[in-house]
Amino acid sequence: MKPIHFLITAGPTREHFDPIRYVSNRSSGKMGYALAGAAARVGQVTLVSGPTALKPPAGVEFVQVLSAAKMAKAVFGRYAKVDVVIMAAAVCDYRPRQVANRKLKKTGKKFVLELEPTTDILLELGRRKRRQILIGFAAETNDVEHFAQDKLRRKNLDLIVANDTRAFEGETNIVTLIHRDGRVEHLPEMTKAKVAREILKRALAACQTLAHPVQ
Ligand code: CTP
Repeated sequence: MKPIHFLITAGPTREHFDPIRYVSNRSSGKMGYALAGAAARVGQVTLVSGPTALKPPAGVEFVQVLSAAKMAKAVFGRYAKVDVVIMAAAVCDYRPRQVANRKLKKTGKKFVLELEPTTDILLELGRRKRRQILIGFAAETNDVEHFAQDKLRRKNLDLIVANDTRAFEGETNIVTLIHRDGRVEHLPEMTKAKVAREILKRALAACQTLAHPVQ
């Protein structure tokens, strides 16, 4: 039987407005890399990663990207061939509308940076979904479960991992798993490696339900 092919995204994206300055976020990539490591033990893995300080796990196909646009291109180009997508990346929702090709000089006056929306990769994957299992993350500061439920429906996901933004740089995470069928699981605080194994278990169960992978 063909191994299950996982496409996992990780890390932040970086949205430049001149060659040395950018807008980004605090994502370390640890959750996504832990998922890629766990998935590599049970299947084939493509890890699409924004800039992080981490070493890719052994045995994964590693695709490095910088911006949300590059991440979208890397993910969309591989979507048709994969069985499970886990969007653990903290994709920037906005990017500077204009990008200067030279370093901007200070003027001493007020500087207003205009931002425009990036493509919502996961929303688009949900629209184009055929047989893939889609897993998303919801990083929230408040009303975690409520917002996560909404994202699950809106983005046509099979599972959403809701976590508190306090977990961003740490070694542990406290997550709530919300399934498409309405099941809600509150997991206790555990290492990101353990959270990764728990998510993987649910992904594999979802694959079996749909008799994945489809040949
Ligand atoms: N995501 C994505 N593309 C984006 C933004 C987010 O694919 N441009 C994915 C993330 O990888 C994550 C999920 O969408 O799996 C949720 O991201 P989040 O930023 O928490 O939520 P948003 O949908 O952007 O909604 P909001 O900003 O309103 O919280």
